[in-house]
Amino acid sequence: MVNLILFGPPGSGKGTQSKNIIDKYQLIHLSTGDLLRAEIEKQTPLGLEAKKFIDQGSLVPDEVVIGMIGSKLDANPDAKGFIFDGFPRTTAQAEALDKLLALKKTAISIVLSLEVPEDELIRRLLNRGLTSGRSDDANEDVIKARIVEYHNKTAPVADHYAKFGKFKRVKGDGTVESTFELLSKEIDELVSERV
Ligand code: AP5
Repeated sequence: MVNLILFGPPGSGKGTQSKNIIDKYQLIHLSTGDLLRAEIEKQTPLGLEAKKFIDQGSLVPDEVVIGMIGSKLDANPDAKGFIFDGFPRTTAQAEALDKLLALKKTAISIVLSLEVPEDELIRRLLNRGLTSGRSDDANEDVIKARIVEYHNKTAPVADHYAKFGKFKRVKGDGTVESTFELLSKEIDELVSERV
């Protein structure tokens, strides 16, 4: 199995590149942001609770997202591999993911981290907020709060995987196409090592 984490701050292109990667490599895309937004759309109790955190630019509690990912892994027993987008976002989530994958006799293959300067992140998200309807793109204060959460709680996840030699930085401020080429190169290397 090939299990990738697409890592990076809000607006770095994780969702955009995940779509390209699943088309090319037939992996299952697991985005905790998308799963939470689907719960909000359906107005489930979980969604209504999560919305309070998302609207402020804060992370949703670990146990909520870990439970969602556990269910999705169980629901896809025949997957060739997974691409995790927006998860794990804390060291506790990373440790939980490692355990969930170990139960399935697999592990994270690599973490690919999209590197984009902060002014470009803000520009992209404000621009998307004009049309997306995403409440957390609506104003610059919430976008900045999401970036602060990233630096405080998510960036340390890099160390968790770097100590196993599984963390790689990829330039993410080029075009969508050129970034996809860089990511493909990394994934192709990984796939060829496994054949
Ligand atoms: P989530 O949905 O994961 O949002 P995010 O990490 O803030 O990421 P975004 O979707 O904003 O950005 P992205 O990196 O996917 O970039 P995208 O491709 O969309 O999470 C939302 C919230 O849910 C969190 O704040 C938190 O509250 C909660 N949550 C989710 N997961 C959680 C977890 N595990 N634990 C706790 N809470 C959790 O691109 C952004 C824009 O840029 C798009 O308009 C795109 O078209 C454009 N773009 C992309 N690439 C390029 C490029 N190369 N050039 C120009 N424009 C580009």
